[in-house]
Amino acid sequence: MHAHDEPACQSRRDFLLSGGKLVMLAAASTITDAVWAQRAGHAPLAVAHLSALKLGEPHYFDYPQAGDLNMLVKLGVAGGGGIGPQADVVAFSTRCTHLGGPLRGALQAEIQVLGPCPRHLTTFDLSRHGVVITGHATASLPQVVLELDGDSIRAVGMQGLVYPDRSRHA
Ligand code: FES
Repeated sequence: MHAHDEPACQSRRDFLLSGGKLVMLAAASTITDAVWAQRAGHAPLAVAHLSALKLGEPHYFDYPQAGDLNMLVKLGVAGGGGIGPQADVVAFSTRCTHLGGPLRGALQAEIQVLGPCPRHLTTFDLSRHGVVITGHATASLPQVVLELDGDSIRAVGMQGLVYPDRSRHA
């Protein structure tokens, strides 16, 4: 066997890249665990009746705690995480992920957008898990995990981290 036939030693660059991948896998696993922990940690809550929803009309409810305001809406187009026959019923926190700006009343139902936030104008796409469209926020809007039980819509968890309510810690 010639020297050039021997398997090459792992370069420093390859070693660092493989280490980085392991760190990313561990972080992804931790985030997934956190999401599942959040899902498991909240008691289900009946929040609306499917038959009572009107297209594009927001329905507000607190979850998982009093003061954690969310908005449920029938979009009229299928949305990520949507429930119902058209998978178009979704719910999201109304607290902006940038600095907690209030998004209540900022629904643009005809284009499935929540925002602009009154503080720094971030807008969120409700048909795609609340991703940021424009503005200062970098994190998607926390989405309420919904389940349908007959005609009853139940909140069973949150996906994403809700901007903290500082008044609770004052
Ligand atoms: S608080 Fe909503 S964009 Fe800054």
